[in-house]
Amino acid sequence: MNAQAPIIPTGLRIIGVGSALPPKILTNDDLTATMDTSDAWIRERTGIGQRHIGGTTSGLATEAAAIAMERAGVGPGDIDLVILATTSPDYICPGTAPAVARDLGLDCGAFDVSAACSGWVYGLTVARGYLLQGMERILVIGSETLDRITDYTDRGTGILFGNGAGAAVVQADPGATADIVGWDTGADGNYVHILYSEHDGVLQMDGKEVFRQAVKAIVRTTERTLAMAGMTIDDVDLVIPHQANVRILEAAWKKIGFSMDDTIQILERTGNTSGATIPMCLDQALDDDRIAAGDHVLFLGFGAGMTWASALMRWG
Ligand code: COA
Repeated sequence: MNAQAPIIPTGLRIIGVGSALPPKILTNDDLTATMDTSDAWIRERTGIGQRHIGGTTSGLATEAAAIAMERAGVGPGDIDLVILATTSPDYICPGTAPAVARDLGLDCGAFDVSAACSGWVYGLTVARGYLLQGMERILVIGSETLDRITDYTDRGTGILFGNGAGAAVVQADPGATADIVGWDTGADGNYVHILYSEHDGVLQMDGKEVFRQAVKAIVRTTERTLAMAGMTIDDVDLVIPHQANVRILEAAWKKIGFSMDDTIQILERTGNTSGATIPMCLDQALDDDRIAAGDHVLFLGFGAGMTWASALMRWG
């Protein structure tokens, strides 16, 4: 790595992905002990069957990143930076990324990105900027322990959220066989109070408004990213969206024209894991052999803020 290097054209390749879930599972049936709900209602209205709870944000992030590094065939000396997307950091101060770098034995910069469920895609676009400035390899992680800010007696929010982590090793690709060919990041702070948590509080949400704004954000960011790439939905081979409620995706897909067959979903077994969802889905997609060289994969994040972010990647 040469941090003084001028901006040079380079592509971006994902060379290893890993994920981690804490072992304890909270099923929909378990939730009926603490709130007036049912497995049938939660499945029908959200698509969620269970979520994982427990662990720490740094611990899950470290576990996922260690797997990603092993699969990438890289060691601690090969990583130039850690970018950790989280909305549930271990501490308010400091960030969680330095502890993850320590536990992985890294000697490099490390910082958190706070953009809620869009965080991992924001992180990917930030990583691309560092690669353009001469870095070679960056860990982009999403990790959450949302159980610490979720009230599992509140049926308006408690049915949705769970814990998990996903990590990717991204590497500069000088030939640009692989690259981000279009991207978009956005935010509208007028909607801060439709989904938020105070210090030491729990998530508060206007579910219906979040649903409406999420569908709008997904449609808008997809259009912008495809426009930057000079492509249409027919050029997209696979969509890896954040997932909070399967009905949000169904509503957005109806407007955009995507098909659920080309969409990776893990929501049924994880619930909404905010910044961790997209990298965990990517791990699932690779496990299932859903991505081939030359494919165009659309990462699509949206969430509290409101924030949104998308990136269309040509896979190497
Ligand atoms: N179990 C059983 N019944 C429930 C319930 C639950 N968990 N939650 C609400 N209900 C009831 C309501 O009381 C209401 O009953 P009523 O018609 O007798 O008044 C009925 O079900 C419909 O409630 P409503 O609030 O309209 O449900 P909804 O279809 O909007 O679903 C959410 C609620 C939270 C699942 C949905 O709004 C949602 O997913 N919003 C987006 C949240 C999100 O994506 N957040 C993260 C963004 S990254």
